[in-house]
Amino acid sequence: MNARKRILWHVAPRAPWMTQGRMGMHRDLERILIPAAAIEARVRDLGQTIAAELEREIGGDGTHADHGELVIVPILTGSVMFVADLVRRLPLKLRLEMVGVSSYPGKSMESKGVSIRHELPGTLAGKHVLVIDDILDSGHTLDVVTRLIREQRPASLRTCVLLRKPGKSSLPVAPDYVGFDIPDEFVVGYGLDYDGFYRNLPEIATLRPEAR
Ligand code: IMP
Ligand code: MG
Repeated sequence: MNARKRILWHVAPRAPWMTQGRMGMHRDLERILIPAAAIEARVRDLGQTIAAELEREIGGDGTHADHGELVIVPILTGSVMFVADLVRRLPLKLRLEMVGVSSYPGKSMESKGVSIRHELPGTLAGKHVLVIDDILDSGHTLDVVTRLIREQRPASLRTCVLLRKPGKSSLPVAPDYVGFDIPDEFVVGYGLDYDGFYRNLPEIATLRPEAR
């Protein structure tokens, strides 16, 4: 067996070290809602759609008719996995400028209001901005962040979320791009956390009641 095959065998999803022992996280899970392969396929589709639309509007080389640059603004921390995968599907000249937002402190499963942890860049005037978040729940996070960006007068502003819980938001926030609509359940994985854990899970899953 060559080295590559050996490595693949060791990280297979059913590898015992993932489910056993003090450090296992899979035993805390109730149900896998979206398998890793489905996420990967959807991110690939989203990338194609977004790249085609942005290229049509602002060109692919960063020096367009209106000279507007493309800036991707990921909302930290939940969007890190999604952004990392999505931007590699966008063959466009772009910058990444993070904003840090916290709405579910510690073991909370309900939004406690939005606090900005890492300021937005103050340089978005005239830029084409795409804000990316992990999930749209109450909509407060995206509402606050897009308001702050609009104050800077960008050339255009779009929003993209991997997940959306339909019907949850009373705010007029409608993301331009949505990966998956999911039921109104608390989910973890692929960047989403509970008390800071499970972000490294490759799937989107619900937690067993005992783990909450
Ligand atoms: P919103 O402000 O209520 O729309 O919530 C958005 C933020 O809350 C997201 O950026 C997530 O970080 C977090 N969030 C909302 N729902 C969930 C969930 O089901 N699991 C984990 N985090 C969530
Ligand atoms: Mg978040």
